[in-house]
Amino acid sequence: MKRLKVAFLFNVRHHYPDPNDLRNQREADYDDPQTIDAMQSHLSDCGFSVLPIEADENAYAQLRENRGAIDIAFNYSEGLNGLDRECHIPAILEMLQIPYTGSPPLTQALVLNKGLTKDVLRSHGLPVVPHRIYHEKAEICDPGLVFPLIVKPLSQGSSAGITNRSIVRTLSELCDQTGRVLESLGPPVIVEPFLEGREFSIAMLGNPPKALPPIEPDHSKLPEGYERIDSLEVKWIFEESSEMSNYLLCPALIDDEHWSVIEGVCHKTWHVLGVRDLCRIDLRCDAHGKPYVIEVNSPPGLLPPEVSMTSYFPLAARSAGISYNDLLGTIVETACQRAFASRGTKHA
Ligand SMILES: Nc1ncnc2c1ncn2[C@@H]1O[C@H](COP(=O)(O)OP(=O)(O)OP(=O)(O)O)[C@@H](O)[C@H]1O
Ligand SMILES: [Mg+2]
Repeated sequence: MKRLKVAFLFNVRHHYPDPNDLRNQREADYDDPQTIDAMQSHLSDCGFSVLPIEADENAYAQLRENRGAIDIAFNYSEGLNGLDRECHIPAILEMLQIPYTGSPPLTQALVLNKGLTKDVLRSHGLPVVPHRIYHEKAEICDPGLVFPLIVKPLSQGSSAGITNRSIVRTLSELCDQTGRVLESLGPPVIVEPFLEGREFSIAMLGNPPKALPPIEPDHSKLPEGYERIDSLEVKWIFEESSEMSNYLLCPALIDDEHWSVIEGVCHKTWHVLGVRDLCRIDLRCDAHGKPYVIEVNSPPGLLPPEVSMTSYFPLAARSAGISYNDLLGTIVETACQRAFASRGTKHA
């Protein structure tokens, strides 16, 4: 039987993210060459014929040249340039009528913008905290600010720009941290209330989606002096170190009532944003335990176990008894079923 031809689209990192150098964090969402190689091998192990394509400026030409041979694209790209970069490859794939895994361009552009995502969710009655967007420091003069706040780049992932200094408790700290992020990663910056309660990350898979077992970072395990957030230092240094074993709890212990609220919020978030196939939704609770959506990750990180045992989506899958290869296979199968059912033929 002919093997399914899968074009694997990815972005490669050239610098490991450095908590002390914000400029160096621009590629945090990309993957190391060994991760890309490993993912490619796993896709081959799933029985696919894999065509690797780096999602750079040459991607369009390569996809156009090979479109007749490609059955489906595995879109693991983050995009190269601009605030809407995660929609570039899906838009190209739509133009070339190549089916692909994951969400369409509008969803991809939206979820990379943490402010607009929350505006849309809020308009559908979903729980999100209020936020402010700043393009320059001079805009910060709001007497209504209630501290503590958290300062984040509007359109980054993997905690780029989110460090131990991101929680601010005074106007002067807010100005300083906003300035730092603006200078290094560029505008805009999003500022929102700091939620001090439990944090959950929910991997969602399928059409309609199923929530995989919830992940909870145990902030009480963080060393003295570290803010209780999944900052760059935490994700890129502590999570990977042996001293932080068991930092990520999966499945997190959540009582049924709380879980049904969280699951309901995640399902509605998925539908409102037009997500397809897979995503990971990050939520955090306030002091009373009420969960709020912080952000939506699409595509979510999918590092193989030999590279990282703390990559969230594969961790949640393992906890559900789904091996890494089965996870990749399920993503492709899910996307094929959706794409071919709705389109009727391969490239129609
Ligand atoms: N409003 C908030 N209140 C409390 N903590 C927050 C808030 N926003 C973000 N955080 C903390 O900062 C971390 C990173 O924030 P966020 O998920 O927005 O960044 P990211 O870079 O997109 O992350 P990812 O690695 O999931 O792509 C969260 O996991 C959480 O610990
Ligand atoms: Mg997050």
